[in-house]
Amino acid sequence: MKILILDDAEAVSARAAGEIASQLSAKPASVLGLATGGTMEAVYEQLIALHRDGRASFAGATSFNLDEYVGLAGDHPCSYRHYMAQKLFDHIDIAPGAAHLPLGEAEDPAAEAERYEAAVAAAGDIDLQLLGLGLNGHIGFNEPTSSLASITRLKTLERSTREANSRYFPEGEEPPRLAITMGIGTIMRAREVLLVATGEAKARAVAQVIEGPISARWPGSILQMHRQATVLLDRAAASELELLDYYLDVHPA
Ligand code: PGA
Repeated sequence: MKILILDDAEAVSARAAGEIASQLSAKPASVLGLATGGTMEAVYEQLIALHRDGRASFAGATSFNLDEYVGLAGDHPCSYRHYMAQKLFDHIDIAPGAAHLPLGEAEDPAAEAERYEAAVAAAGDIDLQLLGLGLNGHIGFNEPTSSLASITRLKTLERSTREANSRYFPEGEEPPRLAITMGIGTIMRAREVLLVATGEAKARAVAQVIEGPISARWPGSILQMHRQATVLLDRAAASELELLDYYLDVHPA
């Protein structure tokens, strides 16, 4: 794992956006794996700025998002399809039809998960997978005890995840209990992964994922087995790392 620790969240999001832009210029027809959540909002803002400056074109790219809530149609304001349109797709030049998310409103969500897994594989798998990190160590919606070999399927969300995400839902409306998520095995097939975490609240999960044992208790810890994984952290998210000095020594900011 390459562990990069930058001063603050702004530097982290700028760096993450820069990595995506570099991937696109090295391979314009890249298959990108995209993520949602608070951390990614800042990354997408920076990416849109790079696009406006002519430094990132998505015209040849394809994207697959990690996950979607079951039961929410794409036009539901809390769906991830809506999030992606608002926060990224409406502001860049990705081709219509090239940006994929699981269909949350599918009549048969299990069949939709199978279809989505096949679509990722048919695209040749992901070149660069962007990942956030849950407080419980999840990547995508692969909650603790997810099979480390799982493929796209239905997952029941943990209470802590639903609480963390309830801030996006109007009062009185709760996040769905079920989501369709790429599996850990799907994510591990990506040629490169970039995990981004900022803020002190993530420090425990970050320490478990980087320095703990590989375990389904902290699903992101599987990235220790990935050949091309970069973890991008701010100082706060890195604050519980035992070997912090070592990481700073290897890759000074
Ligand atoms: P966050 O979510 O960026 O909103 O903290 C990350 C995640 O749950 O994957």
